[in-house]
Amino acid sequence: MCGIVGYIGSKDAAELLLNGLQRLEYRGYDSAGIAVLNGGLSVLKQKGSVSELEKALKNSGQSEQSIHEATAGIGHTRWATHGDPSDRNAHPHLSADGGIALIHNGIIENYSAIKKELISKGYHFSSDTDSEALVHLIDSIWSDKPEIGLEAAVRAALYHVEGAYGLCIISQQEPDKIVVARKGSPLVIGIGEGEYFIASDAAPIVEHTKKVIYLSDGEMAVVTRDGYVIKTIENITQEKHISELDFDLAKIEKGGFEHFMLKEIYEQPTVLQDVMRGRVRLDEGQVRLGGIEDYLDRLKLSSRVIICACGTSWHAGLIGEYLIEEFARIPVEVDYASEFRYRNPVITKDDVVIVISQSGETADTLAALRLAREKGALVMGICNVVGSTIARETLCGIYTHAGPEIGVASTKAFTAQVTVLYLLALTLSKGRTMSREEIKLYLKELNGVPEKVERILKQDDMILEIAEDYKDARNFLYLGRGYNFPVALEGALKLKEISYIHAEGYPAAEMKHGPIALIDEDMPVIFIATRDNSYAKVLSNIEEVRSRKGKVIAIANEGDEEIGRLADHVIYIPAASAPVTPLLSVIPLQLLAYHIATFRGCNVDRPRNLAKSVTVE
Ligand code: M6R
Repeated sequence: MCGIVGYIGSKDAAELLLNGLQRLEYRGYDSAGIAVLNGGLSVLKQKGSVSELEKALKNSGQSEQSIHEATAGIGHTRWATHGDPSDRNAHPHLSADGGIALIHNGIIENYSAIKKELISKGYHFSSDTDSEALVHLIDSIWSDKPEIGLEAAVRAALYHVEGAYGLCIISQQEPDKIVVARKGSPLVIGIGEGEYFIASDAAPIVEHTKKVIYLSDGEMAVVTRDGYVIKTIENITQEKHISELDFDLAKIEKGGFEHFMLKEIYEQPTVLQDVMRGRVRLDEGQVRLGGIEDYLDRLKLSSRVIICACGTSWHAGLIGEYLIEEFARIPVEVDYASEFRYRNPVITKDDVVIVISQSGETADTLAALRLAREKGALVMGICNVVGSTIARETLCGIYTHAGPEIGVASTKAFTAQVTVLYLLALTLSKGRTMSREEIKLYLKELNGVPEKVERILKQDDMILEIAEDYKDARNFLYLGRGYNFPVALEGALKLKEISYIHAEGYPAAEMKHGPIALIDEDMPVIFIATRDNSYAKVLSNIEEVRSRKGKVIAIANEGDEEIGRLADHVIYIPAASAPVTPLLSVIPLQLLAYHIATFRGCNVDRPRNLAKSVTVE
């Protein structure tokens, strides 16, 4: 959620911060603000986007010049938790005398108690946020003991805080430093030449330096122009590993596409090849997943696999269930991470818990991981963001290598997750349930998927025409069976999150048990009707919808003429066996959602109320 950026060096801090905020806007876009140290402390913040903030800066005349003289500062783009999106709730928040500025990502759970105490001491609050309580608390502690300095005042304040935070704090009294702290909300420090960057993820850093340090929970850092010192909140100095970022600027730019989402949909053939690269030996029927090699025996012996994830990653998890059960014959359960943690689940040392997360920062998934670890299960991660918290806290794992995903609606991360799960299921089956020859056949089929995805993408114009016909629909039903049931859920989620059309995904056979009551001439129904063992049954479901005047859009296999007679529209995908079908059947649904949303004038990359990574519970 909220994007955080900080800079200290010798360049125009305001410009760097605004540029950084643009790159972080997918994390939250309710309001934006910067604070810079230019002799004093100047703040500019308001409701709305970063480009609106930039315009406001340009219109600020004389003060614009002095803001651009600053060479240190902090910036924030907000996803509202406490308090509506407004100028007054935008970060940075200031101490009463305007001398300290703070930006915060996360939730201060005991802010009401802190606020009450501060009010009793005479502090006034000018926002409805939880974050403001913290800046006044730091100010209060520092005012009581001026000799301790900013760092110690922040440390002392954090002892009183319950909840999650990624924080950057600056003060005009100590203008040559930024104090940062992390608990539950990610922070990365970028190391340049005589300059340092701080951010909630690497996106705003990568164009300046590839050397980064990931702060761990419970750590603080003081960053100056000469370097950084990292300590725990308990004041114990930490030696940190410097990591190298493995992506470049092009990966986080639109590259000629109108939206990141469209670019990411089109990247899928390459992404799927990247997932397989170096891991698949086709001629030998071998899969090598380096990140889990040391734990393979234990994984194969597990009595049960539990998959925990949220949103799209949870849908990938459902496909993982089908794949692992079919290929490796290990029982699998799939849980919403948010439910898993609160229902006192039975977890034993023989269980394997797989957490799936694109961002690697989702708060619920992280909490599920920690619970599973506490209970002694082997915890494995499937993450996209290298160095993310989930990637670091799992015992072993597999990166999806999809590259940065900026569009809030997940697309390429989903197909990359499914591909990883396919490879994992084959790995678990080796020597147990499948022969090398069988594995070879499955790998061969997977290897052909990128080219098949290319073929589907070529039908984009036709999908756009269908989208135009249905752009004003108020509801949609998505139906599929077997491997296509999670795809139906994913198609419905894509549509609702970016077009704001109500959409439901269901197992096709469940339609008769309720949703059929909704069918009339105004209800478009998307059937994923590929030729698998439930094909005939799905055709009957299509008939049932037609006889109630529902509109049918079918995703079917090339050459299926029968379906052409039944459906109002058909989008054909190449034939494939059931386990690889989701990688194909989801593509038209991504494109359909994208085009419907753009016809409706929605902001596809930044849908309302959403944020790319959900770091609060
Ligand atoms: O980063 P994660 O994969 O953990 O994120 C989980 C969900 O928040 C995410 O998939 C969300 O549902 C997407 N907006 C779906 O497109």
